[in-house]
Amino acid sequence: VYPDKQTASVKVAERIARLIQRKQEAGEQAVLGLATGATPVGVYEELVRLHQEEGLSFQNVVTFNLDEYYPMLPDAPQSYVTFMNENLFDHIDIKRENIHIPDGTLAPEEVAAFCLNYERQIEEVGGLDLQILGIGRTGHVGFNEPGSAPNSGTRLVTLDDLTRRDASRDFGGKENVPTKAITMGIGTIFKAREIVLMAWSGKKAPIIKKAVEGEVSGEVPATYLQLADNVEFVLDADAASELT
Ligand code: F6R
Repeated sequence: VYPDKQTASVKVAERIARLIQRKQEAGEQAVLGLATGATPVGVYEELVRLHQEEGLSFQNVVTFNLDEYYPMLPDAPQSYVTFMNENLFDHIDIKRENIHIPDGTLAPEEVAAFCLNYERQIEEVGGLDLQILGIGRTGHVGFNEPGSAPNSGTRLVTLDDLTRRDASRDFGGKENVPTKAITMGIGTIFKAREIVLMAWSGKKAPIIKKAVEGEVSGEVPATYLQLADNVEFVLDADAASELT
């Protein structure tokens, strides 16, 4: 628990930078699982600063994003492709071919094969070294909404009504928020060698309490993380304020 999200975000960015450098020294790739939304913005800002001012290179970095709305055009302002370009990828030296984000433009009959291939691509590069997560007020991680199975893989899901309401500002009304998304599964996330879940502000305090102290249940998918031993929650004081 850190006093504020700026301090916490810098810590997480430093942890990512150390991983990248350790892998560089070993002549290996660092495989990162990335999240979008408001939560990781400060981490990406610090990573960009480390690149621009302190020479951190992303040449050996491979990324897999957690999720994308479906359907979604990559150049739409709300797409997670646009988000990642604006907040991180356009400002660092990552190789474009090393970036993976679920494809919101697939025909319905192409989705299943795409999802299986996403899992295969993660495995082919040796699995995720570090997955970063935010948490939705439904308790979702990625877009694994209540009802998600602990062994779920990458798949097409239906978004919870609360999730669509929370996204409505970006889309100019809930009715414009897609009803579906492609997301890595709980099982995909669990295979990462390290998992860092971040949450800031009192708005997240009730769901953080449930995720950390509540009964493990598919009703609050983030509670599954209680069963992982390689997971760390990084919180600001307000998000942690309901923990006993
Ligand atoms: C985003 C994602 C979601 C968000 C969550 C929190 O890629 O997978 O699980 O992390 O909805 O969103 P923010 O950070 O906007 O509060």
